Amino acid sequence: MSELRNDTFLKALLREPVDYTPVWMMRQAGRYLPEYRATRSQAGDFLSLCKNADLACEVTIQPLERFPLDAAILFSDILTIPDAMGLELYFETGEGPKFKKIIRSEQDVDALIQPKMDDELDYVMNAVRVIRRELNGRVPLIGFSGSPWTLATYMVEGGSTKDFRHIKGMMYSQPEVLHKLLDRLADSVIDYLNAQILAGAQAVQIFDTWGGVLGHREYREFSLAYMQRIVAGLIRENEGRKVPVILFTKNGGQWLEVMAGTGADALGLDWTTHVGEARERVGHQVALQGNMDPSVLYGSPARIREEVMRILDDFGSHNGHVFNLGHGIHQFVNPENAGVFVEAVHEFSARK
Ligand code: CP3
Repeated sequence: MSELRNDTFLKALLREPVDYTPVWMMRQAGRYLPEYRATRSQAGDFLSLCKNADLACEVTIQPLERFPLDAAILFSDILTIPDAMGLELYFETGEGPKFKKIIRSEQDVDALIQPKMDDELDYVMNAVRVIRRELNGRVPLIGFSGSPWTLATYMVEGGSTKDFRHIKGMMYSQPEVLHKLLDRLADSVIDYLNAQILAGAQAVQIFDTWGGVLGHREYREFSLAYMQRIVAGLIRENEGRKVPVILFTKNGGQWLEVMAGTGADALGLDWTTHVGEARERVGHQVALQGNMDPSVLYGSPARIREEVMRILDDFGSHNGHVFNLGHGIHQFVNPENAGVFVEAVHEFSARK
């Protein structure tokens, strides 16, 4: 493997000294980029794009060609695992992800396939290998997975939801069935992230997009406990380097202390938390990643620069901070504004 030329992101995740604050954007490869839309139409649909290693590699690298980002993220989706377990993922335009089969009972859980990383999910590892080769040491590659709770919400609801009716119904009426499902998912996520690491992912992020809809007790029991098990099961060193783990519970700002207690190296923050206060609470234990509201990118370049400056000031130090948006970049954002954001982070954080 070629030597890593920019390891600022990995160092920041491990709270080692850096010359400037590294930055990447959640969903940095995606529909806000015209070149992404062109490659996706070439692939046919989104899932075919994920399953074609060369095209997945192409879209992974597209944002790096435009902006001086400090990390690349594997182009794939969190719903690859439920798909490989037999639920058959598909996308209907404008409606988000859907499954042909859904989970409502213990029998449904028992019927799930335990996916093999060198079989059903081999296309993901293949993409990781191709992307690492093409990155050629430019920046580190991030691998990722959904949290068991977040994956379960899609599997039980059958797609996106606003009210979490079926998954919460299961949680309060058949908690043992939900635990069985989460248990199966945790095992698969451990295998999946370890396979990504061995294929070349240099850091991994667990997306707990829906942990924040849980009550404080339920968060610990149905989401955090499984993420903790995953963190404990991950390969933490590869190719002679530490492989940092980032935990991101959207709307999880009130639980940072217990999240830091999982043994993760870094916590992702959305914009509802003050990054300086978060640092005081857990900064001796973990690095922090975040946390600009993605909607700021609808503002003027001057407003974007002002917000970047404020967040850097709020964090108050260079070490242990990875700049990011507090959630994925929106599809209607002007790519030029994303460029203003990335350059502002570098400009304002550079050590004089
Ligand atoms: O960050 C990146 O650039 C890497 C790629 C990535 C995608 N999905 C590509 C994608 C990542 C890290 C994800 C994670 C993901 N997928 C999450 C967790 C992150 C988050 O946003 O909270 C979730 C909840 C999903 C499930 C999912 N996949 C949804 C809800 C959707 C529809 C979203 C939408 O905006 O319509 C997807 C599809 C998807 N995943 C797209 C992309 C680029 C859009 C597909 C397209 O139309 O091209």
